[in-house]
Amino acid sequence: MRRIRNPTCTSGIGRRRGGARNKSGYDPGSLARAAGDGMPTLQLKINGRAMQAQAEPHDLLVDVIRGPLALTGTHIGCDTGQCGACTVLVDGQATRSCTLLAVQAEGREITTVEGLAHNGQPHALQTAFQQCHGLQCGFCTPGMLMTAACLLRENPKPSEADIVDALEGNLCRCTGYVNIVKSVQQAAEMMRGEKA
Ligand code: FES
Ligand code: FES
Repeated sequence: MRRIRNPTCTSGIGRRRGGARNKSGYDPGSLARAAGDGMPTLQLKINGRAMQAQAEPHDLLVDVIRGPLALTGTHIGCDTGQCGACTVLVDGQATRSCTLLAVQAEGREITTVEGLAHNGQPHALQTAFQQCHGLQCGFCTPGMLMTAACLLRENPKPSEADIVDALEGNLCRCTGYVNIVKSVQQAAEMMRGEKA
């Protein structure tokens, strides 16, 4: 699979300037900062719910999602806008949350992988990834799911080439991509009512 492009991905805007992250991937200082020390309070809408988080003007959306808001389904891989692991939907568009300042997400609809399921039922993509073995370690999976969700919303009947093109900016080190593409194809069929 070709690499590194997400046609709907927001281009890089800000880089983090805060403290170093720990090995689990996010800044351990973010939770302490969220406890309140006069920082601005962001009003965010995530997964259909109004949420508040205190954040510095230079804090990245991915750090606020994973830190103060504890939505750790969104992963951090490269932290440089290249791997797609941090992909979320911003106003329906697949966006790398490590390239967007949290403050820029105010007033916009954010969907993370935690928001894909509906009424306790997994999204067709989640079911298809499970059934088609579209993951191994699962690290890339949240980003794959969100990018694929964006694709299927815009193109309910994608060709294999469409799927490869949409996912080419999402890197996977385990699967070889074949079963990921099959999973998206199956999810599309399920969403069209052609497959249970
Ligand atoms: S962590 Fe954001 S693109 Fe890799
Ligand atoms: S399943 Fe391991 S990185 Fe994709």
